Amino acid sequence: MKYLLPLVLILLTFSCQNTPPANVDWAWYLGGPDANHYSPLQQINKENVAQLQVAWTYQSGDKDDNNRSQIQCNPLVIDGILYGTSPKLKLFALDAATGEELWQFDPFDEAYQQFGMGVNRGLVYWNEAVESARIFFTAGTFLYAIDAATGQVIPTFGQQGKVDLHQGLGEAAQDYFIVSNTPGIVYKDLLILGMRVSEDIGAAPGYIRAFDVRTGEIRWIFHTIPQPGEMGYETWPPDAWKTSGGANAWSGLSLDEERGIVFIPTGSASYDFYGGDRIGQNLFANCVLALNAETGERIWHFQTVHHDLWDRDLPASPNLVQVKHEGKTIDAVAQITKSGHIFLLDRTTGEPLFPVEEIPVPESHLKGEQTWPTQPLPVKPPPFSRQEINKEDLTSRGLEAQAYAQALWEKSRKGSLFVPPGEDGSFIFPGLDGGGEWGGAAVDPEGILYINSSEIPWYVQMEKFTPADDNLLASRGERIYRTSCRACHGQDREGGDMFGSIPALTGLKDRLPEAEAINIIKNGKGVMPSFSLLKDEEIKSIIAFLYDSKEEIDANKPPTESTWPYPYVFGGYNRFYAPDGYPAIQPPWGQLTAVDLNEGTIKWQIPFGEYPELKAQGTPITGTESYGGPIVTESGLIFIAATLDEKIRAYDKENGALLWEATLPAAGYATPATYSVDGRQYVVIAAGGGKLNTPSGDAYVAFALPE
Ligand code: HEC
Repeated sequence: MKYLLPLVLILLTFSCQNTPPANVDWAWYLGGPDANHYSPLQQINKENVAQLQVAWTYQSGDKDDNNRSQIQCNPLVIDGILYGTSPKLKLFALDAATGEELWQFDPFDEAYQQFGMGVNRGLVYWNEAVESARIFFTAGTFLYAIDAATGQVIPTFGQQGKVDLHQGLGEAAQDYFIVSNTPGIVYKDLLILGMRVSEDIGAAPGYIRAFDVRTGEIRWIFHTIPQPGEMGYETWPPDAWKTSGGANAWSGLSLDEERGIVFIPTGSASYDFYGGDRIGQNLFANCVLALNAETGERIWHFQTVHHDLWDRDLPASPNLVQVKHEGKTIDAVAQITKSGHIFLLDRTTGEPLFPVEEIPVPESHLKGEQTWPTQPLPVKPPPFSRQEINKEDLTSRGLEAQAYAQALWEKSRKGSLFVPPGEDGSFIFPGLDGGGEWGGAAVDPEGILYINSSEIPWYVQMEKFTPADDNLLASRGERIYRTSCRACHGQDREGGDMFGSIPALTGLKDRLPEAEAINIIKNGKGVMPSFSLLKDEEIKSIIAFLYDSKEEIDANKPPTESTWPYPYVFGGYNRFYAPDGYPAIQPPWGQLTAVDLNEGTIKWQIPFGEYPELKAQGTPITGTESYGGPIVTESGLIFIAATLDEKIRAYDKENGALLWEATLPAAGYATPATYSVDGRQYVVIAAGGGKLNTPSGDAYVAFALPE
């Protein structure tokens, strides 16, 4: 007996010395089912963060050489293995300590490989003791189940390892453009999934579906556009559910596992900018939806825009937070918006914690449109982005820029955050991508929310569309171009969004075989949606138009085209940049903000991102547009890339002080992840570039302290 105690002590010491510290994972998209982008790790802290070095770089080798491919993925890390996706949507597994590749899975067969349809923001990991762990992965129109150990499809799931996402969407389903950019979320044995749909005519209804994780069978469907007899049906014209689309959840879900509630942010109904055929409040578009995760039944909803005419999709996963509110601790949901607001709602009832006011808004001037008379705005917290552009907000950077800014501003319709799109033109500020964007917000356990935002107005204008005139003026191909392609590719095919990320469609004859163009139109490419709804003869007409060939239409056989049903078309996505290439308003053009959700106040706010050449001229930090989000660690650090200056940075979460920065091989338009393997903490970011005029990349870069 007297030997036993020393023996136990020896054994204990022995085992302590030889058991490596437990790995800390990043096992869910955005860090957890609460979508809070938070990690308990503390090894990298305010004192040592400046010593961070590159631990490894992995290159997938498949970026597009046109500088438009991107990587938006927030990877998963589970027990020392990192799972991520590449520019062309290959799924891969790496040793998370070394970056060494373990396997790769290519979802596209040869015919599709060149396209890399859509983008991928992340993955779902599911591990049931009796079966091998699987990764759920969406690419193109399919949901795949992949064996996490081998990278092989799991043949018992769906049809030979994949499920066609057209299922369960009604009769016209097969014609719809559908991709799922953002991962779903697993509750028990269900994978709950949203999707991206077209914003054009013929958009799929954005139903929410739950798939059996083992078989891929649909277990429930929630109709975000209600059918007869369902709640909200009366907020649309009768039978609109047969023709309206959108109200989809493309931006990520969150889950309260204990309560069994899934939280779903929905987007606007389509057509985005004209709602004459969807008069009414349009439930459940633009809602935070709380559904019973087991059954798909609605528990509550909160609509953030009524009858949306501004493309104000809810852009990011709702954050499940705990706040101190009027002396009580409350489980809440914080939903950021493109417009720069935060709706803070009670998690079980959907009641706002801070008052929300319905403010009167101006009426539309468009024929057949009926603006909803009021829109909800939270009284607290204050918006994290400017809301209006007044004359003094226009740029003072030089005569040409000033003249440009003033001319457009003078002629625009003004007077409210909610000026509806019209023929007179108006600004949407923050712009159509937000404000808050798909990168979303990080929240720490103290209830402080960290959010990056772009502060660029976008100009929108509607134009009359009169098919009769058009018949005389233009070929069929040109008309289809006007309704379906011009918003992105520009008035005169000059390319769109002033950053070159949408190519010009001029001179195609000399550089792109017709067959390839047809493939792109039918299947989509990168962020371009597919146009599977177009008939072969319509595609023939567009090709004739784009390739400047004479189109012969038999006068006795008038074309049977998908007719444009609206009296107006959208004029195009135009960021308010001056001819000198910089935003046409005063900085900041992008910010990073800490919001105290307990008090409903802004804790700090800083300009975020810089133009190196302006900085060199002595201009104070201007901020830039940003895509991708922040993460926050228990040691009090915020890590974020996202800016167009291709950097990753660490900030002190208390005051926004910059503590470290490093230049990436390409811009990191994605959200970082942090994890530990064998006691060493890493911060990893996908550096895929390909937006905002910055070159594409194919790297994941992991940083750690020197060993
Ligand atoms: C939502 C925006 C959007 C719409 C709408 C759109 N495109 Fe595109 N398109 C793009 C983007 C972005 C690319 C570049 C894709 C890439 O290379 O990753 C592209 C590429 C192309 C290309 C290849 C050009 C090249 O130089 O390689 C063709 C051809 C094309 N689009 C035709 C069309 C036609 C025809 C329509 C209308 C039926 C259309 N697009 C509608 C965004 C759009």
